Amino acid sequence: MRVVVVGSGVAGLVAAHRASRHHEVVLVTKADLAESSTRYAQGGIAVAMFPEDSVEAHVADTLAAGAGTCDEAAVRVLCGDGPRRVRDLLDLGVELDRVAGPGSELARGQEAAHSARRIVHAGGDATGLAVELGLLRAVRSTAVEVHEHTALRDLLLAPGPGGAPHVVGVRALGPAGEEIEIRADAVVLATGGAGRLYPHTTNPAVATGDGVAAVLRAGAVVQDLEMYQFHPTALAVPGTPLVSEAVRGEGAVLRDESGRRFMLDVHPDAELAPRDVVARGIAAAMTAQGGRPVLLDATALGRERLAARFPSITATVAAHGLDWAAEPVPVTPAAHYWMGGVRTDTWGRTSLPGLWAVGEVACTGVHGANRLASNSLLESLVFAWRAAEAIDAAGTGGTGGADGTDAAGTAGAVRDLPGSLADAGTGTGTGASTGPAEPFSRAALQTTLWELVGLERDETGLAEAARRIDAWRAAVAGPGSTATPGTEQALPGVSAAPPGPVTALEDRNLLDVAHAVVAAARARTESRGAHARRDAPRLDPAQAVPTAWAWPTPAVP
Ligand code: SIN
Repeated sequence: MRVVVVGSGVAGLVAAHRASRHHEVVLVTKADLAESSTRYAQGGIAVAMFPEDSVEAHVADTLAAGAGTCDEAAVRVLCGDGPRRVRDLLDLGVELDRVAGPGSELARGQEAAHSARRIVHAGGDATGLAVELGLLRAVRSTAVEVHEHTALRDLLLAPGPGGAPHVVGVRALGPAGEEIEIRADAVVLATGGAGRLYPHTTNPAVATGDGVAAVLRAGAVVQDLEMYQFHPTALAVPGTPLVSEAVRGEGAVLRDESGRRFMLDVHPDAELAPRDVVARGIAAAMTAQGGRPVLLDATALGRERLAARFPSITATVAAHGLDWAAEPVPVTPAAHYWMGGVRTDTWGRTSLPGLWAVGEVACTGVHGANRLASNSLLESLVFAWRAAEAIDAAGTGGTGGADGTDAAGTAGAVRDLPGSLADAGTGTGTGASTGPAEPFSRAALQTTLWELVGLERDETGLAEAARRIDAWRAAVAGPGSTATPGTEQALPGVSAAPPGPVTALEDRNLLDVAHAVVAAARARTESRGAHARRDAPRLDPAQAVPTAWAWPTPAVP
């Protein structure tokens, strides 16, 4: 089979490497091969592979953080397969930190809401980079064909057996902005998240929601889009670089401007409470002091320990003229990880035959309403591996799942988004008729999301965000389909992504994704995990299921 993998973070690289054993693989990536959110991951990989820990305990912690909407079967796969996938990494030559040099026990850290020290790491605080580079070496030793600086534009659809749409490849923009079509028997999306929806994010510039946007336009099912995780501690300097939760795991504390440890009043676990709780605790403390950042006090760890355990963060902090061994440093929450995405089963299969999704772009259900720290690299390792197995099975005439299960039937209970909110049309259903307050710019979109669809939301703000976003969508995209009758087409009756340049494509993707995030946030009229509503501050047991829906399925010729 011919397999196209889109994205070159850990999920894309594992899928490409594994699929290359039996298939011809083309790997498409928007920037340099090594650029992805993975390379900036600091904390590590959560994995239950130590004697005093257990898969059951890791499952319990993951379910507790997820606030009632995790898919338990998927969580069991994540935590159960995790140790094998981490051993695979070691076998590929990725060097994880050890307690006392080569051959000794793996070193491990503590992070919030984990009941055991189970975070394995590399280079102290440069785990993602070590994993990315190790996997790149592995992929380069295969026959995988790599297309760098090639951006996903849309999915190619054609009628499958019975006439239902099948994914048969991708349409992309090449390095010079030229249109490229790549045909494939299987497409694996590994395009990462959409942190660039927000002005403050720990994500790199490539994180513009391209995969989810293409999937929305192709009519596949998406899930939990309202669940965007804000990391509590990004350094409050331009670019908001991450300051790993592992720093708090090692004993750093949070203080307001007066020096008070405000998290003690918020949660019994203080700085190590679940991530959404700490992020909102910081946001409230910032509001109380006129919006100024709070302080992360790591001074008790001592200069030597900070430099040895957190060399990258030490360098970043110093590059901004700060000395965190001597004084507390300013931190702020920042958009970090999208729990929602393209709905998949535990083999990475989506609702569209021929399409798999792995890593942050996917919603396997393992994170529910709030991802447990350091479960994301693990998720990519586990489910990208399984997607490659499922593609093998599909290639030998199976249903696509290595256990023969049916993708459509595996993901448990969900609720549909009301049609009026999910509306795919440009500028319909959400009151866009009065036009935007200001012309579209990415900065205006990001400010809207931060202020109205950020750490806290309410219906008034969400409706205003919907109004602006849909007016911008109408202005930027124009109405109608660009599908060409009589040919395979990427789109149903909604606008196609525009041809180059890439920034215009990214803007269109961010707008489509923003529309969908707001629609999902309006539909969840309760507070749960990362989705905190001022106008519905309590958890509603009746809404303890994921939100899933699709834009209209394309009518392919
Ligand atoms: C961190 O190091 O705090 C980030 C790890 C994660 O987001 O899982």
